[in-house]
Amino acid sequence: MSYEKGFSLKELNKPKDWTNLADMAKKHAPIIDAPRKVQAKEPFTVKIKVGGIDGVEHPNTLGHWINWVELFAGERLISRMEFEPEMCDGYVVILSIAMNETTTLRARAFCNLHGVWEGREKKVIVE
Ligand SMILES: [Fe+2]
Repeated sequence: MSYEKGFSLKELNKPKDWTNLADMAKKHAPIIDAPRKVQAKEPFTVKIKVGGIDGVEHPNTLGHWINWVELFAGERLISRMEFEPEMCDGYVVILSIAMNETTTLRARAFCNLHGVWEGREKKVIVE
């Protein structure tokens, strides 16, 4: 990340070097957990956890919290979840979805102070 403060409010924040993450990325990047292979039209579980990488959790206060998480299949937004400050712990979302074809899942999270963050893509192969 080349931004002076380690984040941008105007552009998408997306870590490039996952072997050397800054704490700012560790607490904001959404991590997708999903099966590598699924059956067509059969529901499977997708878990998205925002931050918490290496134990670096994001704050959850009235002044600073993760406002929402979005899940994309390819370029298409398929789900959006909102969090209330101080009302939820750990920023974890679990979804059940079914796909018709192989796709690449992407998750984005928005922090009211540090902008929009995208984590690693997760390819799901539909057999
Ligand atoms: Fe933040």
